[in-house]
Order: sequence, then structure tokens, then C-alpha cells
Amino acid sequence: MQVKVVIGTIAFMLTMIVLGYSALREPTRLEEFTGAAHGRSVERGAELFVNNCASCHGIDGRAQSGEGSGCLDSATGEPNCVGLPLHNYYLLCGDPPERLTQTGWTGTTENFVKKTIAAGRGAIMPAWSNEFGGPMRPDQVQNVTNYVLNWQGETLCANPPVETEWAANVEDLRASMAPGDAANGETLFSAQGCVGCHGALDGSIPAGVGPSLANITVDGAARVAGQSADQYVYESILYPNAFIVPECPTGACSDPSLMRGDYAFVLTQQNMVDLLAYLLGQ
Ligand code: HEC
Ligand code: HEC
Repeated sequence: MQVKVVIGTIAFMLTMIVLGYSALREPTRLEEFTGAAHGRSVERGAELFVNNCASCHGIDGRAQSGEGSGCLDSATGEPNCVGLPLHNYYLLCGDPPERLTQTGWTGTTENFVKKTIAAGRGAIMPAWSNEFGGPMRPDQVQNVTNYVLNWQGETLCANPPVETEWAANVEDLRASMAPGDAANGETLFSAQGCVGCHGALDGSIPAGVGPSLANITVDGAARVAGQSADQYVYESILYPNAFIVPECPTGACSDPSLMRGDYAFVLTQQNMVDLLAYLLGQ
């Protein structure tokens, strides 16, 4: 009798210990499960991205036109990223990211990305979700959103890009640089994605997103009172939102600008002088 009670008590205590232990483990298991599910969602999102988005945003989401970028113009076969960069500090990092402030978005980064993917925006970015007449189910939109947000990793967000100290006046910049190399400017015009949105200066590739720059020497001088074409083009490249051109190939130009907003960080000062030499013939 005595022995049975002792065994019973010990058995009861052991059971409690085991139960208590697994109760403590439960949150970890839940986390592991959620982590694995999130990983699968990102993987599925990656596949959706390569098949549906890379043609405009680049295979790595950086929208950097060029060999291996993954975006090709269907007519010319030239690398041509007309989408905005997504694997990008301004869209994904900061609290809130610069891009959200610029567009007046007050929600979360996730909702900004998801909403744009689901509903599309402007004349070029298609709507993807079934809810807006697109080809994807809401769970697929979530997967591709998770894939884009997955770029928020430490390497991107721990390294804010450093902006060059740009002279206010283009003449001051030019005075401190070697003379502009128009041939290199033409190479940059392709490699930096300008041609994808603005078309070629000789008209061999039509302008699609931004205005043609074939006449920019004349147009540029007439845009902003008191600004030479030279100064205007310089500022247009550095600060696309400072002045919004009225007419784009698809109608009125969007505000904020559809032009990439990171050239002040991407271009070197000599790149700028070379681009200006190509565009304005100086
Ligand atoms: C036909 C070209 C094209 C395709 C294909 C495309 N996009 Fe876009 N995307 C754009 C353009 C152009 C914009 C800028 C739209 C605007 O601001 O009006 C954009 C904007 C975005 C933005 C907002 C970026 C910002 O900084 O505001 C996100 C996010 C995005 N696209 C994700 C995707 C995803 C994900 C896919 C694939 C499911 C995709 N896009 C497919 C052209 C495209
Ligand atoms: C993603 C598309 C896109 C890319 C890439 C792009 N632009 Fe633009 N650009 C635009 C749009 C749209 C406008 C008109 C809206 C505005 O005023 O910002 C514009 C405006 C301009 C203007 C003013 C044009 C005028 O008629 O007044 C200049 C100059 C310009 N871009 C130069 C460049 C150069 C140089 C590059 C490459 C280094 C470049 N852009 C890359 C879309 C783009």
C-alpha cells in the first residue's frame, strides 16, 4: 500500500515535469513552424518574381539595366528596366523609408509594397491580384510581397548609400572635373537605365515612360524660369521630384515622378559631366 502511494506520487510528479517542459517548449515550436512557413512563402515568391516581375524590375530587383539584368525590351532585345528599383534602400530601409514619405504613405512598408503589387499603379505597373483583375491569388501576392521584403536584410539596411556632395551650380561641378566625354555619356545613358524610360536620342528606341530627350537642349531651357538647359537637366537627374514635366508618353507625368530617385547616390561626378555632354552636346 505504502509503496503504491510512493510510486503513484513519483509517477504524478514525472508527468507534471514532462507536461510542464513541453508547455514551455510550445512557443519555440510555434516560432519554428512560423519560420519554416515564412521561408516557404519567400521561396514561392522568388519564383513568382523571376517569372512576372524581373522583366521590368531586374532579376535582382535593382532595376539596373545592362547585361544579365533580366529585363529586355521586347522590340529591340536591349536590356531595359522600366520598373523602379525594389531591392533598394529608399523603399525598404529606414523608419519610415524615404519612398513612403515621398509618396505620402502613412501605413507600413509591407502594406505599401503589397498594395502596389495587388492593385498596380500608373500606366505601366500592372495589377496582379485577382481582386483587381490580375492573374494572382491573394496568397501569391503575399508570397511575392514577402520575397521583396526579404531584401530588407542587414546588408542592405546597415549600409545607407552615401550621397556625393553635389555642387549647387553645374558650372562649379564642371570646373572641377575633366571635360565631358560624350561617348561615355552614351554608354551610361544605356547602362543606368535612362534609355529604357526615355528612349534613344536618335529615336531608334521610342520613349515609353519618360519624355523623349531628343530636344532637351531646347525643351530644357524653357522648363523652369531662370534655369539654363544645362542646370535644369543636372537638377532633373539629381532631384526628379523638384519639377514634374507636364507631358509623358502615356499622358500627364505622374507626381511623384516615375523616374528613379537614386541617381544622386549612384552616379559619380564625372559620370554626370559625361551624361550632360552626351545629352546637351557640350
Ligand atoms: C511592365 C513592367 C512591370 C512589371 C511586369 C512589374 N512592374 Fe512593378 N512597377 C513598374 C513601374 C513602371 C512601377 C512604377 C509605377 C508608378 O509609380 O506609377 C512599378 C512599381 C512597383 C512597386 C512600387 C515601387 C515604388 O518604389 O513605389 C512595387 C513594389 C512593384 N512594382 C512590384 C512589382 C512586382 C512584385 C511585380 C511582379 C509581380 C511587378 N512589380 C511587375 C513596372 C512593372
Ligand atoms: C524609370 C523611368 C526613368 C528612368 C530610369 C530615368 N528617367 Fe528621367 N524621367 C522619367 C520621367 C517619368 C520623367 C518625367 C517626370 C518628371 O518630371 O520627373 C523624367 C524626366 C527627366 C528629365 C526632364 C525631361 C524634360 O523633358 O523636362 C531629364 C533631363 C531626365 N529625366 C533625364 C534622365 C537621365 C539622364 C536618366 C538616367 C541617368 C533618367 N532620366 C532615367 C523617367 C525615368
